Amino acid sequence: MAEETGNKSARDYGIGIPQKNVLYELKGANNYDWGMKDRLSRVFNPKSGKTVMLAFDHGYIMGPTSGLERIDLTILPILEHADCLMCTRGVLRTLIPPTFNKPISLRTSAGTTVLNDLNDECIGVEIEDAIRLNASMMAVMCAIGDKQFEGLTIRNLCKSIETGNRYGIPTLGVNAVGKELTRDARYLAMAARVVAENGAQVVKTYYCAEGFEQVTAACPVPIVIAGGKKLPELEALKMARSAIDQGALGVDMGRNIFQAEDPVAMIQAVRHVVHEDAKPQAAFEMYNDLKTS
Ligand code: 5RP
Repeated sequence: MAEETGNKSARDYGIGIPQKNVLYELKGANNYDWGMKDRLSRVFNPKSGKTVMLAFDHGYIMGPTSGLERIDLTILPILEHADCLMCTRGVLRTLIPPTFNKPISLRTSAGTTVLNDLNDECIGVEIEDAIRLNASMMAVMCAIGDKQFEGLTIRNLCKSIETGNRYGIPTLGVNAVGKELTRDARYLAMAARVVAENGAQVVKTYYCAEGFEQVTAACPVPIVIAGGKKLPELEALKMARSAIDQGALGVDMGRNIFQAEDPVAMIQAVRHVVHEDAKPQAAFEMYNDLKTS
């Protein structure tokens, strides 16, 4: 209990100095509440304003994906270089040491696997468990244009946004692109915008070579790109560079990191592009220098 007598009297009031209002600069985020901003600033590095998220949640629809058969052996060595880990609660609880202290983008939607039609999903992880796991973000699949499951996945997204807003946890809307849909700027801009209009604080989408700047321009919240299928390392670095140059605020990459010949070197090369503005060739040289032969 504070003493009642003999206290040093308060007098340093800074009279005449206006109180500073520090703007939260992340795209679209200035009007969010403090907890939401705090979580987002764990995901997006406040200095560069960008993020390198490592996605290794593929098992929830694909089972033991190449590179993810033994997460303890292949993913743990990469984690220290990631800004944020995107994974399922099953992997998080069983394989990721909590001492890593990295922000988690928790896969919270769950449903059909690659053995069936994808995207028949629900919110499989309730908000209480996301809070228990100290999630910084909740990742929900959204299948815009899917004839069967578009409405269902948008309802899942909205549920996540509702509960997330209640507790200050942002939702990452993950745009799933069905086989019958074309990954062009027109489609991707629409899908990203629909997800953002429904209130997602971050959108994950694929990159497209033509017109990607329209996708980011028309989306009022940060976009991070998925890497997609494995490309040669230089190609993947070029894609990351082009996406950032065209307004993406980061990557949420999986296979192009953990299926690289040297994943630890690759994630550092990707960081060089995203956070240090490196050109693809310079990042590729860095990759080759770091690569253990
Ligand atoms: C799977 C996902 C993945 O996280 C996403 O596709 C990113 O991984 P990759 O870079 O391998 O495409 O959402 O459900």
